[in-house]
Amino acid sequence: MSDQHSTGKNELSRRDFLKLLAAGGTALTFAPFVPWGNFMPNPDLQNLTKAKAMLEDGTQANIKTFPINHAETITYPKTGDRVLDEEAFRKWDLIRFPEERGGAKISITSFVAYSKICLHLWCLWKYWPEEGRKRIECPCHGSMYDIGTGKAFAGPASLQAAPSNVLPKLTLEADKDGFINILPAKFGVNDNGVVAYGRFLKA
Ligand code: FES
Repeated sequence: MSDQHSTGKNELSRRDFLKLLAAGGTALTFAPFVPWGNFMPNPDLQNLTKAKAMLEDGTQANIKTFPINHAETITYPKTGDRVLDEEAFRKWDLIRFPEERGGAKISITSFVAYSKICLHLWCLWKYWPEEGRKRIECPCHGSMYDIGTGKAFAGPASLQAAPSNVLPKLTLEADKDGFINILPAKFGVNDNGVVAYGRFLKA
């Protein structure tokens, strides 16, 4: 079982909400009126602790072995419930910068982890490592995000007002052996951001 938990009641209500969301194609119409705070991972509702950045192959990401100019999806916060852990709200991409953006350094500063949910209409973006791209792109309407800041610079997400133009971001650290951990997130617009809503960039 994971070291991160939330109350069963809260998870049940979130699960029901997500089912409803999946069933209702028009749900996004009501997005401004939904009390998102009740459903998003929230430090008031979850006892978050430091977590290992686990890759899909079951190993913990390590700054010494993770390829340069590469991205892999991680889950945070984990609940131990297979269904809940598959929610898009818990998916982040761990990215190691390309060499020209400082990614060759064996350091946690070579890494970022952004929420996978595009801030426009919630499609899942992808990191494109190809020459001439090396950026985050959303397949739905073409929003593009800078890997250094998580800020949209093209497409509809770039036209949205702050904080809804900057992807939420996790705070990472590497232990003495190079293994990457995620520090307890604060899901607020002035901290790690609010998933699917955004984050203010610090000056
Ligand atoms: Fe990503 Fe529209 S949902 S650009």
